[in-house]
Amino acid sequence: MKKLAIAILLFSSVKLCAQKFEGVALTPPMGWNSWNTFQTKIDEKLVMATADLFVSAGMKDAGYTYIVLDDGWMTMDRDKDGNLVPDPAKFPNGMKALSDYVHSKGLKFGLYNCAGTKTCAGYPGTRGYEYQDARNYAAWGVDYLKFDWCNTDGINAKEAYTTMSKALKTAGRPIVFSLCEWGQNKAYEWAAPVGELWRTTGDIGVAFDSSKSFNGWTPMTVMHIVDFEAGIRQYAGPGRWNDPDMLEVGNGLTVSEDRVHFSMWCMLAAPLMMGNDLRKMNDETHFILTNKDAIAIDQDALGIQAFRYSNKDSVETWFKPLSDGGWAVCFVNRNDKPAKLSFNWKGEDVKDNLFSKQLSASSIQYKIKDLWSKRDIGTTADKLESVVPPHDVLMLRLIK
Ligand code: GLA
Repeated sequence: MKKLAIAILLFSSVKLCAQKFEGVALTPPMGWNSWNTFQTKIDEKLVMATADLFVSAGMKDAGYTYIVLDDGWMTMDRDKDGNLVPDPAKFPNGMKALSDYVHSKGLKFGLYNCAGTKTCAGYPGTRGYEYQDARNYAAWGVDYLKFDWCNTDGINAKEAYTTMSKALKTAGRPIVFSLCEWGQNKAYEWAAPVGELWRTTGDIGVAFDSSKSFNGWTPMTVMHIVDFEAGIRQYAGPGRWNDPDMLEVGNGLTVSEDRVHFSMWCMLAAPLMMGNDLRKMNDETHFILTNKDAIAIDQDALGIQAFRYSNKDSVETWFKPLSDGGWAVCFVNRNDKPAKLSFNWKGEDVKDNLFSKQLSASSIQYKIKDLWSKRDIGTTADKLESVVPPHDVLMLRLIK
């Protein structure tokens, strides 16, 4: 009896020490973030229109929940009491009214700040104000905080993010904590007790596979980020996600490149934060962003990130084990020419050693669904023969 009491006491004190809110992101968070399209040109009208479109355009129905304002929502200075002030020109009704509006649509609301003295765009950072800022976020009804890493002048990343995590916990409102130190301090190695997701890499740009400069800045390409994620899949799982950055779908890649981008983010169990202007979304972008079959792969309860099984004749093959015993598969053509594909399921030895999963095509006949054409395309009893167009993907679900 005494031992049991001690065990219960120990267990509850460990729970009390936990720094993050458990269970707020058991599957990768889905939503929209203002940065990729709008940078600091944001205001309450944009947020309200976006919230309206979440509902009327079926984004909410597809699973998107969070509307996150990135950098640029504050005035250049704190008030005399040290509080952050939403820019009155951009947000005349303040943040509480805005989050109430977002909540009234059945959605959640997020904000951005930075662990340093200033944000990346030069607005007041949180360093030294962690508890005060966390209390304001809780009072404003914030559900998600993206926390960046500019102007941090040599401070210890783990300590800085842990302080903010504790401040959020102390403020008491469950808030998804999204770390954004770009992988510079390898947050994936230590951030699972601190937050729910962490950026793994530098900022994404509208670039598929070959680097491009935009006004002297060279962002990460979609496929270079994918390459990086391949090496860190052991760190992802329910409540702890590698974040390869927000989506550039609809922002200027070709439609097939957007399809690869979205498919691979789903394969990587990545947070799906749209980064386009929903008011100007065309049908192709809408179709990609609301593909529920692809989203189901991203949101699979097992939360296992895909692995690269092979890379042959310019076609990469990725596998992701699923909670129903099936698999998601992507054949990605990174080349500029169409690629012939021939895949004999029964002859391949597909094993996920890290998570002890094995594809048993020789003993189990899986049905195959093409998740973009939405067609059933046979079973794993037969060899798959196909052609993958340049910069495109064949995304399949193998169903037991
Ligand atoms: C950094 C982040 C971006 C964005 C900007 C805002 O570059 O990585 O995602 O938040 O700051 O200034």
